[in-house]
Amino acid sequence: MDSIPRTEHRETKSVQCRWGVVGTHRIAQNFVRALMRVPGAKLAGICSRSREKGQAFLRSVDGAECVVYSTLDELCSSSGIDAVYIASPTKLHKDHCIAALEGGKAVLCEKPLAASGAEAREIAAAAQAANRFCMEAMWMRFSPLIQEAKRMVEAGSLGEVHFLRAEAGYAKQGEMLDRERKPGEGRGALLAFGVYAISLAHYILGKPDAISGAVLRISDDAGEDAFSASLRYGQNCLAVVSAHQTATLSNEATIVGEDGFIVVDSPFIGPSQMRVFSPHWRSPARGRVHRMVRQALARLMPARFPPANALCAEADAGLRGEALELMECVSDGRTQSDVMPLEASIEILDMIDAIRGSARV
Ligand SMILES: NC(=O)c1ccc[n+]([C@@H]2O[C@H](COP(=O)([O-])OP(=O)(O)OC[C@H]3O[C@@H](n4cnc5c(N)ncnc54)[C@H](OP(=O)(O)O)[C@@H]3O)[C@@H](O)[C@H]2O)c1
Repeated sequence: MDSIPRTEHRETKSVQCRWGVVGTHRIAQNFVRALMRVPGAKLAGICSRSREKGQAFLRSVDGAECVVYSTLDELCSSSGIDAVYIASPTKLHKDHCIAALEGGKAVLCEKPLAASGAEAREIAAAAQAANRFCMEAMWMRFSPLIQEAKRMVEAGSLGEVHFLRAEAGYAKQGEMLDRERKPGEGRGALLAFGVYAISLAHYILGKPDAISGAVLRISDDAGEDAFSASLRYGQNCLAVVSAHQTATLSNEATIVGEDGFIVVDSPFIGPSQMRVFSPHWRSPARGRVHRMVRQALARLMPARFPPANALCAEADAGLRGEALELMECVSDGRTQSDVMPLEASIEILDMIDAIRGSARV
């Protein structure tokens, strides 16, 4: 098995950044643990509405030490914070991002960037007015495996791409499910999981020409239990993206071209393995002879089933990668990421809005 240590290579660039974290739930814990492994990154503050919760959060992340702020305003006006990672509920992202940008901070905001395309546009306008960096924390895009999949597609290693499938779903029950279904909370399968599947299709294939979707909900205003949508790209390519919150899906993604295909193993949102079935793929670790043998084998066998190469990476590499992306962009004086630009977050939320409106109960 080959490994792709690209994120680790990038971590050698030395940039200093003092981070403030908003929210104390599980994803914020995972992010802070990853942040501690990014050279030059320092946890300088967290914001929690409860001092006890803030202290408990610090204990949960291996006893990290920093200032605990009890309001967002205090954190955003502190001169000891350069960048703010926002992990509050999605319905608060717009207000929290704008407050941090107006406080002069660079912003990394959890996925989805906002609850709708209109809200995301307000965030982008605030980032432009403040001339500050802002990016959706779509850690999947910073996985070395997902970046390698994109590189292979762009290099033509699969031939012309005809199909992409991505499905994300984890069954929720009881209070957790009730919370996701609560009207007006900006939750549900589309925003929680669907955003990953749609973001992957958008990253690999871009903005589709047409979308048609189907949605399951228990009532007209509840968060979606499930959705599936077909995205059409020109006359030769379709993507099928789905998410579920009452059933656990395969959580795999597949990208199919005329000469081969890629399977990103579960969970594709933070993968540790990807299999490549392509005679053209250039394995950096194997060299020319290996490639020639593979190409010869592919000629003898049906081209649709070339031998597989498995690639691996650390599952949390994307969390480190997104933090590093902010730090490097800010250090280079850039206000947007090429990997996850605000325009892409807006287009993805527009797609979510379109799917949400495409079917009723
Ligand atoms: N990237 C991933 O894999 C991943 C995974 C899960 C979630 N997420 C995203 O992360 C975000 C948070 O999701 P979640 O389910 O963890 O949300 P959550 O539990 O509802 O809230 C997260 C944190 O926000 C703070 N908070 C809650 N209500 C607030 C309020 N009214 N005002 C200010 N702060 C408030 C709380 O911290 P205090 O009580 O300490 O103030 C809480 O711990 C969502 O956008 C979600 O989509 C991402």
